Amino acid sequence: MDRFIVTIDGPAGSGKSTIAKLLAERDGFVHINSGAVYRALAFALGESVDEERIKGLDLELRIENSSIVVYIDGRDVTGKLIGENVGKVASKVAKLGFVRDYVNERVRELAKNGKFVIDGRDCGSVIFPYADVKIFLDADLKERARRRSLETGEDFNEVLKVIEKRDKQDRERDIAPLVKPQGAYEVDTTGKGIEEVYEEVKDIIRRVYDNRNR
Ligand code: DC
Repeated sequence: MDRFIVTIDGPAGSGKSTIAKLLAERDGFVHINSGAVYRALAFALGESVDEERIKGLDLELRIENSSIVVYIDGRDVTGKLIGENVGKVASKVAKLGFVRDYVNERVRELAKNGKFVIDGRDCGSVIFPYADVKIFLDADLKERARRRSLETGEDFNEVLKVIEKRDKQDRERDIAPLVKPQGAYEVDTTGKGIEEVYEEVKDIIRRVYDNRNR
């Protein structure tokens, strides 16, 4: 098999990256976090993105230890991309068609040969509509805000406000909105621990894989 692609889509804090990271650590997948590319553009260019400025940007995406590392002007900025300040701007610039085309192309060129788990908002619907397995993770808003605030160290109420707005923006935009992709398996992670969700997702992947190789 040259390529095996699992996509995980869902709103902020639904557990996408956490589960994708575990699949990378334990099961030999390379994890590509498409949100990191939107965040990198937001971090480098702010809200005033345009095609010329994107072209002029020295943005390098490397796979290191099975996950994406973002370099801008030769500097590793991956650690600076987490947090709702950058997420908020990322969600705004993600409404623009030329931004989405750019990110899709960069993500597709990374996922050539091998086993990949790719997370974001439109990975199963737009970037890889022919993915081998599509997962859609969701959870209730308060629980998602709690998780994000634990992860980033930001204030819970502040995070709650920002991700509520971000969700609405991501779900209601005209181009490639956040949807459950056709053929996706939905997993509600509300009230579930990380290991439980991991096992559920792993089970879905195993079933599809076994069915195909029968
Ligand atoms: O997954 P994340 O929180 O790092 O994503 C940040 C923002 O990037 C998200 O609010 C919307 C945008 N995004 C997107 O539009 N499509 C994707 N496939 C991934 C992220």
